[in-house]
Amino acid sequence: MTVTKNASLLKHNTFGIEATAAAWAEYDSENELRQLLTLVEEGQLPRPLLHVGAGSNLLFLADYAGTVLHSRIGGVEVLAETPEEVLVRVGSGMVFDRFVEYAVACGWHGLENLSLVPGEVGGAAVQNIGAYGVEAADFIERVEGVWLADGHRDEWPKTACDYSYRHSIFKSKLRAEIAVTAVTFRLSKVFSPRLDYGGLRKAMAEQGLDEARLSPQQLRELVISIRRSKLPDPQVLGNAGSFFMNPVVEAAAYERLLASYPAMPCYPLPDGRVKVPAAWLIERAGWKGRQMGPAAVHDRQALVLVNRGGATGRDILRLSDAVREAVRQQFGIDLQPEVNMIGSASL
Ligand code: EPU
Repeated sequence: MTVTKNASLLKHNTFGIEATAAAWAEYDSENELRQLLTLVEEGQLPRPLLHVGAGSNLLFLADYAGTVLHSRIGGVEVLAETPEEVLVRVGSGMVFDRFVEYAVACGWHGLENLSLVPGEVGGAAVQNIGAYGVEAADFIERVEGVWLADGHRDEWPKTACDYSYRHSIFKSKLRAEIAVTAVTFRLSKVFSPRLDYGGLRKAMAEQGLDEARLSPQQLRELVISIRRSKLPDPQVLGNAGSFFMNPVVEAAAYERLLASYPAMPCYPLPDGRVKVPAAWLIERAGWKGRQMGPAAVHDRQALVLVNRGGATGRDILRLSDAVREAVRQQFGIDLQPEVNMIGSASL
């Protein structure tokens, strides 16, 4: 394990925000995590505790006065296997896309559409990451974790994880209470690609790919190429992917909006409500590509806020507030951030 006092968080958040933590503590096993929790108990590491993954969905609004914990638990273990599927347990600190790459190479299918989503396996289970019509929860069997209060081990079968769009029990009720240590996925050995999400078939046609002969590796590469064409590389331009969630509106509200904006794209949900792309609302509100000091709305994907260099968390928050206000004024919709904000939200 590694403990660093007064640690810079710059390399631990993809927004590239300069902030410090009173302590940064990384562990390589559940036992090491328990040792760290004992140090906290003894007052050798400061509270409060914040558990992070790769920092790809975080915005630091201020320095952090407590201890930031990070899992380096790796490893991929096959728990059970049949000719049709595999149950595979993965350490929470593994980079999610390394696991997707490994799964594709092993002939384990389902996660191809999540290729290149940033972050680690633990964060993927907490955030219920999603892309191109697939969510992590579709393939999660079980989540294992440790209670930060007393270090005891626990596990949550998928039904206890309260999964929905970009939501889980670990993000809500158990927020700040659990360190996820491992995630078990149920993957298929039969490749049945999900290609219905807008843009996938179009990109296949553009790249001359034949749906009937599409291989898992080709699907992975297709998704990677679409992501690279739209989403900025955090190494070049700090960002945390989609800054806002796509809002879900009641059917009646959607009908009213449609009367004014007949071209508005939408995704009807099984319960009658309608998901509307936040990127479209932001673009129509005139904010795509706009800057506010060192923060900007990305010019190729309006859902992404970027750090043009030297932005503070508050610069990003100021831009987010302005974008939300513009969308509220024009459409009567209050966009909710997908990014987790750490620190006081008052400017
Ligand atoms: N659109 C615009 N303007 C833009 C960008 C998009 O009008 O600048 C419109 C497009 O025309 C399209 C719609 O918005 O009709 C949806 O766009 P896109 O397919 O790019 O997806 P998104 O809804 O903006 C979501 C996820 C992404 C994920 C993509 C692909 C959320 C919050 N975001 O974005 O996830 O990669 O779908 O599945 O659900 C992330 O969570 O960090 C993330 C990148």
